Amino acid sequence: MESILGAILRRRAVKLFAPVEISSELREQILDAARHAPSSFNMQPYRFYWVESAEQKRQVAKLCLGQMPAETASALVVAVADIGALPATSRAQLEWMRRSGFSAAKIREYERTAKIGRILFMPGPFGIFGALKWGLFWVLNLWKTMGMPPTSRQDFFKWATKSTSLACENLMIAAEALGINSCPMEGFDARRLSKFLGLSARHREIVMVIAIGKKSHAYLEPPQWRRPLEATVTVL
Ligand SMILES: Cc1cc2nc3c(=O)[nH]c(=O)nc-3n(C[C@H](O)[C@H](O)[C@H](O)COP(=O)(O)O)c2cc1C
Repeated sequence: MESILGAILRRRAVKLFAPVEISSELREQILDAARHAPSSFNMQPYRFYWVESAEQKRQVAKLCLGQMPAETASALVVAVADIGALPATSRAQLEWMRRSGFSAAKIREYERTAKIGRILFMPGPFGIFGALKWGLFWVLNLWKTMGMPPTSRQDFFKWATKSTSLACENLMIAAEALGINSCPMEGFDARRLSKFLGLSARHREIVMVIAIGKKSHAYLEPPQWRRPLEATVTVL
């Protein structure tokens, strides 16, 4: 694998792909890199749907509004923020800690953190607990320096979307480093695509779809423009 900086600087949103197949080894490497991204509380609140079979891909591309990157991609990755898997994820981490021989003190510490996390991250029926939590934290924050936990369903998805987006970037950079190009897309019919994948709106929200493939020789890459550093950075 080449230098990470090289892959970051070379990556472009490619709009036209050549018809090539992506091996299952490459697929696994790319997805494995995605799940190595950092995530809030290590909760990894996402799921990736890798769509590669011709018929499914055709249907997903159509739901990506028939955009050229989607229509010509070798695979389409639907990145979904998933707030429904949190209890299962913390249970799985706990089991892993027990199997891996973590000390009893470390396991107790994680159990305590997971319990607090469950309480903080529980919206409750009709968001009632969320509203109470918001009021309580707002008052506490008047005299105490503290972070605000997510309280509404929208907050939860915002929280999960941050970690999902980092995993998406890992995925695209890894693909680039492995000689595969990509194009992130938010141009899709979220309602129909969710229905197609059988996602419950309560727990799952599509963050983006990533077209994956090999850049076509016919594709004329436009020059890349970015705001100058001083327009994007404040050094204090
Ligand atoms: C969240 C997000 C959504 C995007 N949605 C689309 C899209 O729907 N269709 C598309 O062709 N490109 C899409 N892009 C790609 C951007 O247009 C592209 O990254 C930007 O113009 C900069 O070009 P570059 O990545 O080649 O440097 C999206 C990028 C991001 C990060």
